[in-house]
Amino acid sequence: MNARANPLLETPARPLPRHVAVIGAGAIGPDIAYYLKTALPGLKVTLLDVRQEAIDAALARLAGYVDKAVQRGKMGTEQARHALEGLEGSTDYGALAGCDWVLEAATEDLALKRRIFADVEARVASDAVITSNTSSLPAGRIFADLKHPRRATVTHFFAPAWRNPAVEVIAWPGADHALVAWLRRLFAATGKLPLATSDAPCFVLDRVFDNWCNEAALLLAGATAAQVDSVAGEFVHAGPFFVLNLAHGNPIIVETNNLQADEEGEHYRPASIFRSVERWHTVAPGRQVEVPPELRERIRDRLLGVLLSQAVDIVDRGIGGAADLDLGCRIALGFRRGPLELMRELGEAECARVLRRFAAERPGMPSAQRPLAQYQPAERHVLVDDADRVKVITLRRPEALNALHDEMTDEILAVIRRHEADPRVAGFVIVGYGTKAFCAGADIGRFPSLLGDADAAAQYARDCSRLLVHLDRSPKPVVAALNGMALGGGLELAMRCHAIVADRRAVMQLPEVGLGIVPGIGAMVVPYRRWPRAAAVLHGMLTRGERLRAGQAQELGIVDELADGYQDLVTRAVARVHALAGAVRPISDGPVAVPAFEPVPPAEAGMRSAAIVALIEQAVREAAAATTLGEALEIGYRAFGTAACTAAAREGIAAFLAKRSPDFAATG
Ligand code: COA
Repeated sequence: MNARANPLLETPARPLPRHVAVIGAGAIGPDIAYYLKTALPGLKVTLLDVRQEAIDAALARLAGYVDKAVQRGKMGTEQARHALEGLEGSTDYGALAGCDWVLEAATEDLALKRRIFADVEARVASDAVITSNTSSLPAGRIFADLKHPRRATVTHFFAPAWRNPAVEVIAWPGADHALVAWLRRLFAATGKLPLATSDAPCFVLDRVFDNWCNEAALLLAGATAAQVDSVAGEFVHAGPFFVLNLAHGNPIIVETNNLQADEEGEHYRPASIFRSVERWHTVAPGRQVEVPPELRERIRDRLLGVLLSQAVDIVDRGIGGAADLDLGCRIALGFRRGPLELMRELGEAECARVLRRFAAERPGMPSAQRPLAQYQPAERHVLVDDADRVKVITLRRPEALNALHDEMTDEILAVIRRHEADPRVAGFVIVGYGTKAFCAGADIGRFPSLLGDADAAAQYARDCSRLLVHLDRSPKPVVAALNGMALGGGLELAMRCHAIVADRRAVMQLPEVGLGIVPGIGAMVVPYRRWPRAAAVLHGMLTRGERLRAGQAQELGIVDELADGYQDLVTRAVARVHALAGAVRPISDGPVAVPAFEPVPPAEAGMRSAAIVALIEQAVREAAAATTLGEALEIGYRAFGTAACTAAAREGIAAFLAKRSPDFAATG
């Protein structure tokens, strides 16, 4: 059975868990329990440990998390009550009775894990799910003695497990495919980023991290920890020694690299210095010490060498997928770019040089088995699945609520182009990853570079519109499936699809006015032509950032159909693709009438810029009067360019990036 690229498309083989036991009240177990309780509030969670003090400390820690979340406004009081209700501690394995999932996060000792699981298996039903948290031990070894191993696998969480979305799910040969699919789906539906890996020691991400740290330690023969961390800052938010101090990670590297050395060769053996040092003398992230140029180059080449070497090995051996590898390194390990992204950026010649030098200095370490270009994933930011002759394209940028940038829109366009002439493909569905957002709009992180240059900003809007203009001309149906928020550019993308199906809880919004800019890729143009009776509502969305709920949007004809939950949504969207076959209607070309705008009340003046509101109103009126769609869209692109040169845009974008409210009172 082939796994779905988007886990939310899997049909769950079992219901949601009702009672989970987390074994181990040390560092990571309680954090996993907290994630589970906040993600599935009705769940009963039993935290099990042999030491009552550990349980008491863990429960106090979790109560502290809840307090902090309430104080910061991230959690309401009702939610807080649910988060702690049904959470209990126990030192008695008898508490496992009736659990439908036992998650062990107690130890990295294989023999002890096996003893724990023998005990667990004697107390739970033969179909209860059993998972073990480990960063390195293969599932095949942990579960070798289980009577019913098909319900068991490794789920590897990353610190802090309640907040770090990454979790590796190991697809080992002894596990039921349906179990792995169920876990991936459950994680994706509860805000996590499940990454499937094969059962190699250290899986994907610890192969990268442990060897990165080990290589850093080997470099200490000719450099200081502070020098290595300073050079590493180019690639990671925090250098290897800083992270090792934070995580008390030295013994872990010794253990995991010994495991790799025993399995795969002496070149993985941990640096001997790990045995004699407890804490490293290094610099905090962002700080630098002086590193002479020649030494800098040597450190940089070695660090890059180990990253590239591990990356090609992971892909060559099928331990994990190329796009997952990059995403996991960014999200779980704090790399600025994934190793394959780095490879693409540095170019083949430079990477080949680095790998040659690494092979000479570190004989035995893996090297590329094919031309470097072949390691690049076909898609980095989207997943593609098949459903009833329809290509389901999932926007996946979990770090930015699936926000769009040019590379992502180009990928969507490439998938559509690849299949649109194929008579076996009926059309396309575009959906967002996770259950929170379809797409949070254009990537605001890329906006600062556009400020102050009207032509460049207008051209950016034109470039971002390549996909949308293609959709305008596409005879094959493309249906948007709104699984959550559709904001700004995300909503503009949905508006250009030939139909919109929305989860009942989905919300649409054009927040640009609050950023001091205008929605430049169609929202001031297209909806007035497609849904003229929604014009007054659209005015409010554009000039006041008003939200539109899926139900209201359906009444206005913007949304074609409502759905309940992710699977229902995609099923309906796929059916709609078939219903639209041969019946895709182009957006009308001729001018349209728009009603007058209501003046923005003076009380809202600081929340919005008068100049931007005026720009929006003018663009909407001019675009409505334009005699062709192309001309109307051009008015939108230029208005985006004009907005990018205003004081309001500088203030709005700076405020978003600084996570504060904008103040437009002084910007005009
Ligand atoms: N571009 C870039 N990053 C974005 C983004 C966007 N459009 N929308 C969200 N993100 C990022 C956030 O910066 C945050 O990153 P961080 O974890 O590194 O801080 C992450 O996605 C999660 O978003 P967060 O704001 O923490 O989630 P939330 O639930 O508190 O708020 C929103 C959700 C959608 C209300 C808020 O993210 C938002 O206002 N986003 C901007 C929407 C927008 O204006 N879109 C139009 C752009 S033209």
